[in-house]
Amino acid sequence: MSKFRLAFPAILLLSLAGAALAQTDSTLAATPPMGWNSWNHFAGRVDDADVRAAADYMVSSGMKAAGYEYVNIDDTWEGQRDAQGFIHSNSKFPDMKALADYVHSRGLKLGIYSSPGPKTCAGYEGSYGHEQQDAETYAKWGIDYLKYDLCSFIPAVMEKEAPHDKAKQYQLMQAAYTKMHNALVATGRPIVFSLCQYGWDDVWKWGASVGGNLWRTTGDINDTYARMADIGFNQLGLAQYAGPGHWNDPDMLEVGNGGMSFDEYKTHMSLWAILAAPLLAGNDLSKMTPETLSILTNRDVIAVDQDPLGKEGSRAFAVGMTEIWTKPLSDGALAAGLFNRDTEPHPITLNLSDVGFQANATLRDLWTHQDVTATNGSYTVTVPPHGVVMLRISQ
Ligand code: GLA
Repeated sequence: MSKFRLAFPAILLLSLAGAALAQTDSTLAATPPMGWNSWNHFAGRVDDADVRAAADYMVSSGMKAAGYEYVNIDDTWEGQRDAQGFIHSNSKFPDMKALADYVHSRGLKLGIYSSPGPKTCAGYEGSYGHEQQDAETYAKWGIDYLKYDLCSFIPAVMEKEAPHDKAKQYQLMQAAYTKMHNALVATGRPIVFSLCQYGWDDVWKWGASVGGNLWRTTGDINDTYARMADIGFNQLGLAQYAGPGHWNDPDMLEVGNGGMSFDEYKTHMSLWAILAAPLLAGNDLSKMTPETLSILTNRDVIAVDQDPLGKEGSRAFAVGMTEIWTKPLSDGALAAGLFNRDTEPHPITLNLSDVGFQANATLRDLWTHQDVTATNGSYTVTVPPHGVVMLRISQ
């Protein structure tokens, strides 16, 4: 009895302090989140052992040292609710708290997934009507990141409560995200909040106001050049909405999943870095080729993505099937991606004066890690089909 009398005020004070901290915590996702997510490779097959292996390989491969931090479980971990309404993990994840402890012991963070609807996209238990309980459960387990995926909220709530009224449906959608954000904040644990509603209602305009640290801007990526390029190059126009703590998310990486060539995966990584996109590897980390690892751990490219200025890049020029995208960096340098979207090689020319630099600027190729030389203030390079040359330009 006396134990409870003593403990209660202390717990109250601690959680109040925690809530205040979380609300003012501007360090959460100060740069785009980096890590791994189970969906693109494992989909519904992911289990505890796969997640532990991902954590292990993230450390042993050097990915952690290169900046990867979050180990994120996507859909299909959810079990049943108990009589009090608290969610439990299913038999693939026997002990979520122990898993979080393990991931934390490797110096990494653990992410999880749910839906504001009654069911997730894969038909598992969602958070509808249990938002605060779920947030508390995640905090108790030691979860550091939540991806919150709209899915069944559309038919179960939006279409049901506001049939044919898009404006009202969107209000319900925003309210659902605010509700979970408040629930997460109330736990006092800093938990990155990832909105997944496929870009509906121009989420980039309001995602930050409902507490989102990142928001998916599109439907799902898949492991093809066509889909990756369609998503990536269509991010044009969204740069102004991203910044420290709140990022556009063109979906997780497919690098290493086998559906694209080496050049195409380099394009994927380069474009995502210029977009200041979250870098969430989506491959099986236990079976990486040296090429895959070299792409995922290219520190020069990662530094572009993670630049503390937090400015998303944009397209500067397009000529035929070639495009130059640029991203300003905190030290006054500029990252430039020279992309060839064609199936034939093409020379691409970058005129330094067009991007605000003098003829004697220093150019570094971020894939060969060599300095290259501009001639008479311009640099011309032949870029392979679906390929990229990525440069860092400084005066
Ligand atoms: C949706 C999301 C995907 C993934 C699946 C899981 O399709 O967009 O990223 O989370 O659900 O069911």
